[in-house]
Amino acid sequence: MRFRIYRYDPDTNSRPLMRDYELALEPTDMMVLDALARLKEQDDSIGYRRSCREGVCGSDAMNINGRNALACVTPLEGLHEPVTLAPLPGFPVIRDLIVDMTQFFAHYHAIRPYLVNNEPLPERERLQSPEERDKLDGLYECILCACCSAFCPSYWWNPDKFIGPAGLLQAQRFIVDSRDRITAERLEFLDDVYKLYRCRTIMNCTEVCPKGLSPARAIEHIKIALLRNSV
Ligand code: SF4
Ligand code: SF4
Ligand code: FES
Repeated sequence: MRFRIYRYDPDTNSRPLMRDYELALEPTDMMVLDALARLKEQDDSIGYRRSCREGVCGSDAMNINGRNALACVTPLEGLHEPVTLAPLPGFPVIRDLIVDMTQFFAHYHAIRPYLVNNEPLPERERLQSPEERDKLDGLYECILCACCSAFCPSYWWNPDKFIGPAGLLQAQRFIVDSRDRITAERLEFLDDVYKLYRCRTIMNCTEVCPKGLSPARAIEHIKIALLRNSV
């Protein structure tokens, strides 16, 4: 199988280049991440992140044949050759397929990704009804892989000011949580021409999410909540 991989080492390259590789696949090489591990045996200078190998940690998000995906759950079978591997678009590259996630996580921390509730602690736990718990479905499963934000043209243009689909989906996850007590504060924080309203409903985020989530829908719900608050 033929591969074309984005290579860039700021210590030795003045600019990035695409390097070609060939690999005789083994029966055990099922996913793009398996092929990368084998290619690294050929050329141990190839840099990429990975951890769980199960589509859970989100660390091996990259651009595969023009589409953001997790290498560990992207089957090699059926991929057009040469299989082109590139870092997540719009993110600063540290080396090869490894991108700098600092800005991405700064947005995540800004939305306060934790419950805030200063009421006295109950004896055992803060309970939710099954209906309240259901509202978290489609939100809590996010693995923060950044496939969505790195596929969003609005985020490419304003990565420092637009929170982006991943951060906004997480914001909605806490806005709808019945145990949280700062919903109004959360909405007020997001009510901003850049933080939220840079979303132009292009839907790339929903199209590309490897967990089947819909950041676009979460964003729409935040906008509706803000509208209701303003009436
Ligand atoms: S919403 Fe989907 S694509 Fe975006 S960070 Fe979460 S899991 Fe990844
Ligand atoms: S729907 Fe909004 S957040 Fe999603 S890709 Fe489009 S502009 Fe970006
Ligand atoms: S290695 Fe963890 S999601 Fe792919």
